[in-house]
Amino acid sequence: MKPPIISLQSISKSFGNVYALDSVSFHVNAGEVVGLIGDNGAGKSTLIKILAGVYVPDTGDIFLHDQKANHWNASKSRQAGIETVFQDRALAVQQTISRNIFMGREIKTFIGFIDNKRQYTEAERLMRDIGFTSEVFTPDSIVGTLSGGERQGVAIARALYFNAKLIVLDEPTTALSLTETEKVFSFVRNVRESGRSVVFIGHNIYHVFGIADRFVVLDRGKVVLKCTRETYGTPEELIRFMQQVARSQ
Ligand SMILES: Nc1ncnc2c1ncn2[C@@H]1O[C@H](COP(=O)(O)OP(=O)(O)O)[C@@H](O)[C@H]1O
Ligand SMILES: [Mg+2]
Repeated sequence: MKPPIISLQSISKSFGNVYALDSVSFHVNAGEVVGLIGDNGAGKSTLIKILAGVYVPDTGDIFLHDQKANHWNASKSRQAGIETVFQDRALAVQQTISRNIFMGREIKTFIGFIDNKRQYTEAERLMRDIGFTSEVFTPDSIVGTLSGGERQGVAIARALYFNAKLIVLDEPTTALSLTETEKVFSFVRNVRESGRSVVFIGHNIYHVFGIADRFVVLDRGKVVLKCTRETYGTPEELIRFMQQVARSQ
């Protein structure tokens, strides 16, 4: 067995007297989609902000391919090929798809202007890679005219740029209908097929069940369940199990 591409071990983090994470261990293997599930306030966003190097854990260790990583931070996380689409990160809806994909890291011509032509063709390639092909939209289309699922596609394409090995999506489907959720699942399947990994976060099991190979369930800062998709045949079975856990605490 290959070691996980990244692994967090016994991570704790508190904010004042709120224990956001209490000795949480979490790993991601190459080429898998991990569903990170839990109610609002469970600690999901805190966990992935630690993965992204935005927050420093109070205690616990981070390993990259079994090598302990010291002084983990946002630039090391990015260097390791981890790209995060944060929950609160909004796209610029008045801008084009291609502008959004390259915002903050524009491709420049040799005299320093934005190379719109290259950005256009790169955006086309990235959109094709995730299966976001449309007769209606081009990289010059305004993001505000896209549906919610398609906007997530833009965020995923943006994360793919720079060859991310692991893409973390924080509640990408929370505000979406089931049809739009399916669209996002299909983008994520294409990302997985290219050998990359995805952490897919949700507080609604129905919005995660259909895409994840493996689940990690957080409840009030603790991991209460780790299982593969085969363990629970249907979302209902998983929900029943989680209700039992909640009652027993
Ligand atoms: N920056 C912060 N300052 C203070 N409390 C925070 C901060 N971030 C998260 N928390 C608290 O930590 C807990 C977990 O939050 P969060 O990780 O955002 O949960 P989730 O993403 O699962 O909804 C919550 O009680 C939340 O209020
Ligand atoms: Mg959150």
